[in-house]
Amino acid sequence: MGFLQGQVAFVTGASRGIGRAISVALAREGAAVAAAARSEVNLQELCAEIRNFGGKAVPVALDLRSEDSIRRAVDEVKSVLGNIDILVNNAGVMALHKVVDTPTEVWDEIMSTNVRGVFLMCREVIPSMIERRKGRIINIGSLAGRRGYDEQGAYCASKHALVGLSKVLAIETQKFGIRVHVLSPGGVLTGLSKELRASRGEPEDSPEWMTPEEVAQAVLYLCRQEGAAVTDELCLRRFASEPWR
Ligand SMILES: NC(=O)c1ccc[n+]([C@@H]2O[C@H](COP(=O)([O-])OP(=O)(O)OC[C@H]3O[C@@H](n4cnc5c(N)ncnc54)[C@H](OP(=O)(O)O)[C@@H]3O)[C@@H](O)[C@H]2O)c1
Repeated sequence: MGFLQGQVAFVTGASRGIGRAISVALAREGAAVAAAARSEVNLQELCAEIRNFGGKAVPVALDLRSEDSIRRAVDEVKSVLGNIDILVNNAGVMALHKVVDTPTEVWDEIMSTNVRGVFLMCREVIPSMIERRKGRIINIGSLAGRRGYDEQGAYCASKHALVGLSKVLAIETQKFGIRVHVLSPGGVLTGLSKELRASRGEPEDSPEWMTPEEVAQAVLYLCRQEGAAVTDELCLRRFASEPWR
């Protein structure tokens, strides 16, 4: 029996990439997974895959840019699976532009998905965690939340903001037994980093880039922390990259 048996996990951005791998890893450990995103066909496929190995998962239509969509999704998950024990705010978008060339719509899209969406998810989910004196929130940040990268102005701003939000969430929820973690990976082989890899001349499947499954293992590590120790931020860099950056 997996160590997450009996727990409900809500994963945003579950339709592909890191969120998909996190959903599979959590379900393999016995969590009932609410797999949320906009691409419902992908979510159906993911949930079928999870059910095939005996796990439990439900697809949840969610557009993080819409407050109504978030409210509906959280209500639906609570009524179908029960209270949410683990919230993984994973969904995110990025685009490559010099700051001076960044279209306003691109800035707004990135901030509304990567920051406002996380704020709204937390505001919707945390009250029931407070009531139950129990919960875990894992916000998927990025090394772009610690330093600047060329052509990633909006993305870096959003991931720095996510760290700020997470710091306050941790302070405000600690007394209710809720653990808030930021997991900050470097480069991972997903659609999100495709343009970046191409712009750096990296091969499509470079073995020097992390896999979504490696990030999912780090999520499991955080989920195992129940005792006196807690990790506020867990950074994962590519082994091939410069240490301590
Ligand atoms: N890949 C990397 O190198 C890397 C490095 C560090 C951190 N990260 C972070 O890891 C997280 C996952 O990224 P990824 O690499 O797995 O990217 P990805 O493969 O592009 O997946 C992004 C996910 O976010 C969902 N999403 C985007 N906009 C959404 C919206 N408005 N509402 C709901 N869901 C939305 C997408 O689903 P739909 O399109 O179906 O809605 C998709 O499931 C992001 O927070 C990203 O910043 C990635």
